[in-house]
Amino acid sequence: MNFIVAVDQEWNIGKDGDLLQPISEDLKQFKARTLNRIVVLGRKTLHTFPGGKPLRGRTNIILTRQKDFSADGAIICNSFAELFEQLRSYKDNDIFIVGGGEIYKELIPYCKIGYVTKIHKTFKADTSIPNLDKTGTWKAVRKDGPYHFRDDIYYSYLEYRNSEPLPMP
Ligand SMILES: NC(=O)c1ccc[n+]([C@@H]2O[C@H](COP(=O)([O-])OP(=O)(O)OC[C@H]3O[C@@H](n4cnc5c(N)ncnc54)[C@H](OP(=O)(O)O)[C@@H]3O)[C@@H](O)[C@H]2O)c1
Repeated sequence: MNFIVAVDQEWNIGKDGDLLQPISEDLKQFKARTLNRIVVLGRKTLHTFPGGKPLRGRTNIILTRQKDFSADGAIICNSFAELFEQLRSYKDNDIFIVGGGEIYKELIPYCKIGYVTKIHKTFKADTSIPNLDKTGTWKAVRKDGPYHFRDDIYYSYLEYRNSEPLPMP
């Protein structure tokens, strides 16, 4: 299982329900990596997608505790237990955890690879993920960049590997 995220220098990921700084090239690489794959997201992250709809060309699995929730063609799971049961149907490498904060926090420990876009700036934020460089088990194995977006905004693509992923329950 993989995760993919864009963080700022402090590992912040969002504010007021939105991304901190969408970067068009980064959104393209997100699409390229996840197309024809399985994306796993929390219900709040669904609202950040275009039109508030599941992503086209991908199997969308949405976590919510709302029993009557539905979204165009998406698979709904009401608990992590249900999610893990559902994920058995897919190849581990095809699964991408795509946010947000609550979902990353629970599922990053099960991931083997993390695709992290690091924006070299600090934003005002209300949502973050743990700093992988302080975990001991996650190591950056590749870095591309920095690239310039605009003004004072630079970003890099990092690939992290987890030496001790939790086994799927
Ligand atoms: N930078 C990035 O790469 C990135 C990526 C994605 C999102 N984000 C940002 O992250 C923020 C959203 O993150 P968030 O933490 O507020 O919300 P979230 O993780 O997207 O979704 C939280 C929701 O997931 C559902 N949920 C959580 N635990 C569950 C469980 N055990 N069983 C069933 N459902 C469960 C609940 O939905 P219900 O309330 O419906 O029950 C909960 O309200 C936004 O600012 C967004 O822009 C950033």
